Amino acid sequence: MSADLDARARAILTGNDRGGYTVPTAGLYPFQWNWDSAFAAWGFSTFDADRAWTELETLTAHQWPDGMIPHIVFHRDDEGYFPGPGVWGTGRPTPTSGISQPPVAATMARMILEADRSKAPRAAALVPKLAAWHRWWIRARVREGVVGIVHPWESGRDNAFDWDGGMANVDGSNVGAYQRRDTSHVDASMRPTKAEYDRYLAQVQWGKAHGWDQVKMADEGPFLVADPGTTFILIRACDDLAALAAAAGVADEGAAEMAETLRGGLGTIWNPDGYWDSRDLRTGVFTGILSAGAWLCWLAGAGRPEMDAHLARALGGVRYAMPTVDPTLPAFDARRYWRGPTWPFYNALIALGLRDAGKAAEAERLRVDTADLIRGGGFYEYFDPTDGTPCGGKDFTWTAAIWLAWIRSGAGRDA
Ligand code: GLC
Repeated sequence: MSADLDARARAILTGNDRGGYTVPTAGLYPFQWNWDSAFAAWGFSTFDADRAWTELETLTAHQWPDGMIPHIVFHRDDEGYFPGPGVWGTGRPTPTSGISQPPVAATMARMILEADRSKAPRAAALVPKLAAWHRWWIRARVREGVVGIVHPWESGRDNAFDWDGGMANVDGSNVGAYQRRDTSHVDASMRPTKAEYDRYLAQVQWGKAHGWDQVKMADEGPFLVADPGTTFILIRACDDLAALAAAAGVADEGAAEMAETLRGGLGTIWNPDGYWDSRDLRTGVFTGILSAGAWLCWLAGAGRPEMDAHLARALGGVRYAMPTVDPTLPAFDARRYWRGPTWPFYNALIALGLRDAGKAAEAERLRVDTADLIRGGGFYEYFDPTDGTPCGGKDFTWTAAIWLAWIRSGAGRDA
């Protein structure tokens, strides 16, 4: 059974390969997405190390002159997706979106290199690009010591509760008529609402109208919300970049120092009620809902006793870990995207942190539950954590990737 699933997972990765880059899933997401691509590389590394490095090289090849690595690279146009390259209008030689996505690439690259040291020269060539990207985050996004995202999509957790407060201040009433495409691929009840989409679009129009000036977007744009998830990922990415550089025999370009500086700013996102929380950096208001960004604290070495209690409660509250919102809260919505469901790739990321924090039992619970979900429902985008119903897109790249690299190969498992 598992051997069949291994073969199926490899077939999904190769089937979603468009020649040097991988789409998250056919139809719904027809381009190269930044953090999906990094996970794809991790998956490829279990059976084709060269292809793994190619994935990361294709992604970083579309870095902007200011260091940003964009959240989508539109290698070829595709009518099936909105908002496409014309709406973003970034003017890049190969069109891209105008925001970024959580910088997991260095973390994936480090694991890929550790599994096959013969690729050190390819890793060495990536280090300066990843370092420039991390510096970009600090210059263009870190405010009050933590990462502020300028658009919910930049967090990768598109419609999480975290962004509702900030989004309420975005005027979505003048965006004009448009035709969504996502709801023609998957069930609308599982997708963001029209009002949310109007505001997503208003933010894109603002960036375009201001020439995609990334510093201006953070300092003057309609939305800036501190994201615990991206902050923890960036800290970990800086640690991993330093390790990657050492393993590849090149200078770390200040990566270790960046991690230390960022750790010093974490107080901004500690909600006095006792958990890591997102916070509107325009108003100072915390979201007040314990959600998935907080589950990455261990990845950055930022666990606290209060978080241990929350972890135990969340694990006890659902059949399949980890829910993307504390399941004991009324806000928890088991099938709506980032408002409750469990996401296989995200579980892998949480588990890497748990393992490093010495929480082997909890990391193993995530691994076993995620394996059960995939065995029962297939390689779906995300699942209902209460009953395991598969949701969203099927034959998903990062779900297949973590099956191979985490569930089957044992990465993230206590040795
Ligand atoms: C959705 C997810 C985002 C992901 C993208 C492609 O937008 O929220 O995290 O990168 O789909 O899979």
